[in-house]
Amino acid sequence: MAKGLEVFVALSLVIGVLQSANAEVPAIFILGDSTADVGTNNYLPESGIRADFPHNGVDFPFARATGRFSNGLNTADFLAKQFNFKRSPPSYLSLNATSAIKRRRFRGINFSSAGSGLLDTTGQTPQKNVVPMGEQVYQFSTVYNDLLAIKGPSETKNLLSKSLFFISIGSNDILGNYHSSNPMPKEQFIPNLGLVYEQHLRNLISVGARKFGIVSVPPVGCCPSQRLLTANWDCLEELNDQARAFFSMVDTLMRNLSSEFKDMKYSLGNAVEMALDVIDNHLNFNITDVMSACCGNGTLNAESFCTPTANLCSNRRRYFFWDLFHPTQTASRLAAFTLYSGEPRFVAPINFSQLPEA
Ligand SMILES: *[C@@H]1O[C@H](CO)[C@@H](O)[C@H](O)[C@H]1NC(C)=O
Ligand SMILES: *[C@@H]1O[C@H](CO)[C@@H](O)[C@H](O)[C@H]1NC(C)=O
Ligand SMILES: *[C@@H]1O[C@H](CO)[C@@H](O)[C@H](O)[C@H]1NC(C)=O
Ligand SMILES: *[C@@H]1O[C@H](CO)[C@@H](O)[C@H](O)[C@H]1NC(C)=O
Ligand SMILES: *[C@@H]1O[C@H](CO)[C@@H](O)[C@H](O)[C@H]1NC(C)=O
Ligand SMILES: *[C@@H]1O[C@H](CO)[C@@H](O)[C@H](O)[C@H]1NC(C)=O
Repeated sequence: MAKGLEVFVALSLVIGVLQSANAEVPAIFILGDSTADVGTNNYLPESGIRADFPHNGVDFPFARATGRFSNGLNTADFLAKQFNFKRSPPSYLSLNATSAIKRRRFRGINFSSAGSGLLDTTGQTPQKNVVPMGEQVYQFSTVYNDLLAIKGPSETKNLLSKSLFFISIGSNDILGNYHSSNPMPKEQFIPNLGLVYEQHLRNLISVGARKFGIVSVPPVGCCPSQRLLTANWDCLEELNDQARAFFSMVDTLMRNLSSEFKDMKYSLGNAVEMALDVIDNHLNFNITDVMSACCGNGTLNAESFCTPTANLCSNRRRYFFWDLFHPTQTASRLAAFTLYSGEPRFVAPINFSQLPEA
């Protein structure tokens, strides 16, 4: 490709070419795990869960490995674009939050950390250092205090009540429990996660969050890494059942909270329905491989993470999975579009596009 054209294409990817009059939110705050991580873990020197090296980012502008577990952009990036943001909010750990807030174009912060979960213990082993949801909420509370000091109480309240809180969390808790030496049964574990999730949400509500865009746990049993554990590389249904139970729990939790807080609005994406719709009907989406990882090694390319020496598939556009756990840019784009404007089967009681005016 000619150099000029290459730069143009790269820039339009970064800037986004959506010029439609999509409803807007003043800021987006993102909490969660690797599905929304834009590089947090790069700042955790001890973290074993990082993606700031090739082949990650091979389709990102200038083929930069930003820390996203993707060949390109992730779901949070595409959602930010849908809301007409030029770029998705930067990672909290990359910022001096005080000076970021003072900037005229302050549009939010990303707290997500790959490998993290609702539980403080999820993802925390000696080799894996992550920022759990509770600490992400604490980091947000420090940003809240900065906002109060800089903008005052009424402007802060107004800004936060109109901002989108995008949350994508829970997969690592479920995977961690399932693969632990002494797993808790789903009937006990999922309600436990519900109590913890409720506390995190109440903490966010108490400092002014009112618009929540939440995505439930995807069918993690269909990840290449989990398919390896089944006889015919099928989805590991026990894990998908836990993902379904998680969705039902969050659904009830959000109904409960919104009847208590009348000015709270939310959209809840059913990630099991969303992902299985694409996996089951993949040819309609021009995706030919929904079983193996595009980047990795061994059976299903799922026996190791994506590294500079791993095998890289030649037609990335046609894969659902980027690495042994994470979706490709193609799959993430589909997820973001569905969250933004999908039907109630996938996102309810309203879709994300309806949140700004709700
Ligand atoms: C948010 O930050 C985390 C950690 O850096 C990153 O993995 C994730 O992709 C980011 N999310 C978005 C939507 O950019
Ligand atoms: C962050 O920026 C503020 C000014 O906006 C400055 O006063 C403060 O020292 C900075 N903090 C750090 C840790 O650099
Ligand atoms: C929702 O509220 C009902 C009634 O108060 C309660 O029994 C239930 O445990 C709550 N569920 C969740 C997930 O918060
Ligand atoms: C499907 O993907 C292939 C390979 O990327 C591309 O050549 C083809 O045009 C796509 N077809 C449709 C209908 O998008
Ligand atoms: C992955 O496989 C390729 C070739 O099949 C090999 O060259 C490379 O060393 C392997 N990398 C890892 C990390 O196993
Ligand atoms: C979701 O979003 C679109 C706007 O993008 C809206 O027109 C539509 O009514 C919503 N879809 C459903 C099925 O609610």
